[in-house]
Amino acid sequence: MLASTTYNALFKHAHQCLWKQYISLLPLTNLLNSRSPPRSMSDAGSAAKTSDAGSAAKDQPGSVRIGHLDPRDYHLPVEWGRKEGWTVRDSDVKLILAVDPRAWYAASLNNEVVSLMCAINYDPKFATVGCFITREDHREKGEGFGVAVFEAALEHTGDRVTQLFAQEDVAEKYEKKGFAKDGNSVVQYERELDDGFWRGFDAKEFTAEGVQLENINQTDLADLAAFDRKYFPASRETFLRELVKDGKISGRVAVRGGKVAGYGTIRDLEEGVWKIGPLYAETPEVAAHLFAAFLDEKKPRKLLVAVPISKNGNARKLVKRFGMKEQVEVFVMYRNGRPEGLEEAGMYAITNAQIG
Ligand SMILES: CC(C)(COP(=O)(O)OP(=O)(O)OC[C@H]1O[C@@H](n2cnc3c(N)ncnc32)[C@H](O)[C@@H]1OP(=O)(O)O)[C@@H](O)C(=O)NCCC(=O)NCCS
Repeated sequence: MLASTTYNALFKHAHQCLWKQYISLLPLTNLLNSRSPPRSMSDAGSAAKTSDAGSAAKDQPGSVRIGHLDPRDYHLPVEWGRKEGWTVRDSDVKLILAVDPRAWYAASLNNEVVSLMCAINYDPKFATVGCFITREDHREKGEGFGVAVFEAALEHTGDRVTQLFAQEDVAEKYEKKGFAKDGNSVVQYERELDDGFWRGFDAKEFTAEGVQLENINQTDLADLAAFDRKYFPASRETFLRELVKDGKISGRVAVRGGKVAGYGTIRDLEEGVWKIGPLYAETPEVAAHLFAAFLDEKKPRKLLVAVPISKNGNARKLVKRFGMKEQVEVFVMYRNGRPEGLEEAGMYAITNAQIG
């Protein structure tokens, strides 16, 4: 199915390009049929770009390939995403690879990436797709690059429950690919804090009784992963290990009676701009304790939080307490069913709408 759908997309491209050049189907087929993961991060690119180096089509104008994003192009999701207002960082690209070495997909035209996205298989049952983006000069021209990459990504996630986040105006496009809204959404909240906020702020007012905050490095990873699993649809030990290693992220774990009662991280996006997430907690008091501790530690000039909105509204109440304002809403969509049994009342922030 993938090969034929992709072929159709590329066929469309061939006819719509002004120069109507020859599309190299040999490398495309090779790449799509390749099932083995890149041997290493640095190998991934050579697989995508040189595995078929013998083909004369390689350097031929109009040659299109669908494969894994070359490590030399790992900066592109960050650069292109920044222009869309996404908060993906360099370390997120690597974090995604640590979770799933085959997660990054790209369409290349004449050996230049023109479209990319990630499809992260967290485990045999759950995946997320995101960072779906085509280079501006090839975008929305009906050239088919986006469709081809999207199909490759969905081939990778297979029959896993697959999550994505979509704005209202494009949700219908994903419905055609088998995704359905589940009634929940994620809202990006923001606040500039250089407006007198700090004069009225005292982190001690947000302390939850009996709770101690530990640095995330000091916490047993298995305990943390077990706690995280109550709120995220797959076990994320690798994800958490990478997060803990990331020197630019501060993480804290709320411990009560020797047990994890909540955890969160705060990451810097640019000078003075910080984003809280993920943030999960057993009670609103524990969430507020963590939230206030992050503010106290970083004193952001601007704060961002991607807040999962569910029926109980705890997360929305928390960010409103800190005077944060709603910016943009994306809908949670799933394909192949939806995750069950998650403790929605304890979800206060996700990492971002690209990772989940
Ligand atoms: C979405 C995007 C990646 C589509 O890439 P593209 O290469 O222009 O798309 P193609 O030429 O392959 O084909 C257009 C297809 O994408 C669909 N599409 C257009 N905008 C879309 C969007 N924002 N989200 C999802 N699908 C979209 C079109 O309906 C069309 O599908 P169809 O042929 O089945 O009708 C591109 O418009 C883009 O980079 N947009 C900015 C980033 C963005 O909004 N990403 C999506 C986040 S939800």
